[in-house]
Amino acid sequence: EMLEKGGYEHFMLKEIYEQPRSIRDCLRGRIYPNEGRVQLGGLQEYAEKFKNIDRIIIIACGTSWHAGLVGEYLIEEYARIPVEVEYASEFRYRNPIITEKDIVIAISQSGETADTMAAIEMAKEKGATIFGVCNVVGASIPRITHAGAYTHAGPEIGVASTKAFTAQVTVLTLIAFYMAQQKGTVNHSKMVELLTELDLIPEKVQQALLADAIIQEIAAKFKDSRNCLFLGRGSGFPVALEGALKLKEISYIHAEGYPAAEMKHGPIALIDEEMPVVVIATKNSSYEKVISNIQEVKARKGIVLAIVTEGDQTVKAMADYIIEIPDASEAFLPLLATIPLQLLSYHIAVLRGCNVDQPRNLAKSVTVE
Ligand code: G6P
Repeated sequence: EMLEKGGYEHFMLKEIYEQPRSIRDCLRGRIYPNEGRVQLGGLQEYAEKFKNIDRIIIIACGTSWHAGLVGEYLIEEYARIPVEVEYASEFRYRNPIITEKDIVIAISQSGETADTMAAIEMAKEKGATIFGVCNVVGASIPRITHAGAYTHAGPEIGVASTKAFTAQVTVLTLIAFYMAQQKGTVNHSKMVELLTELDLIPEKVQQALLADAIIQEIAAKFKDSRNCLFLGRGSGFPVALEGALKLKEISYIHAEGYPAAEMKHGPIALIDEEMPVVVIATKNSSYEKVISNIQEVKARKGIVLAIVTEGDQTVKAMADYIIEIPDASEAFLPLLATIPLQLLSYHIAVLRGCNVDQPRNLAKSVTVE
């Protein structure tokens, strides 16, 4: 087993460290930065359809649903197509309005999740076109969808999803750019710029992993907490949700992810000197707003751990702890900001003596309803 773990103590750690490679594998043969072109073989047949679709519905469960929220942000931003993101289990038991004009994107690491499968079947019956974003090649979902794109992250053993999540986000980024290309919503030079930056993301993920030692020290300070709040705005919001999910899944610390501005409508009541608050505070369009959210937490004596863009001095002066990630455009922020949160959960769980790879009550693939 040690051999399978490649010298790492747990599969989860190995999979976290595999991400520069898994993201690279996911991009391989799909981006041509110099030409400003994305190629997604599986979706080619539908290229024309993207020109006049009214909306996209994304369905998924768990971590895959968080990837869907990042997808919503990216598709709306770049392809200018309205997106709805739904929990498969809610969607299937409603009487949702679906037409032949709709494209449904089903996201699933395993390709076997029962609720996601049932939601796909329902949308299919109503005439929608279904794309799958799956990791396991030949699984059930890729077999029942019309088309799709694999994430190519390789087998994920740890129950808590890490490299599959970043690969899902990578594929959704590619889908957003591909749709934008068909619709002409992003001009050529901007596309060249975006793809050139995307091509460098695996190296930036590698750099983000270098914070591991600092994160381990921070984990030691947080390990006895009973609660933890994760805040983010824009594409940082799904990152906050995913950070909170990772922590609760493997360390059993109660954690909640919130859009930073919603804090004042509830979670702020929980903040005191014992409450750690993890804030995604990188330099992007909501930076100034996030700074005022940090001030609100500090005014109530909360403990702030901020994920910042490297070199940031402003947040450093306000926060109790910071973790730096490389600078990147907002589109790619989720891929980088997720890394320290995975490591933070991992180290906290290890320090608490938890079974990191197989947390209690959880399954890697949920094939029951
Ligand atoms: C389970 C796993 C999660 C996963 C979710 C959805 O809860 O423990 O890691 O995100 O199912 O699974 P899927 O395979 O459809 O992505």
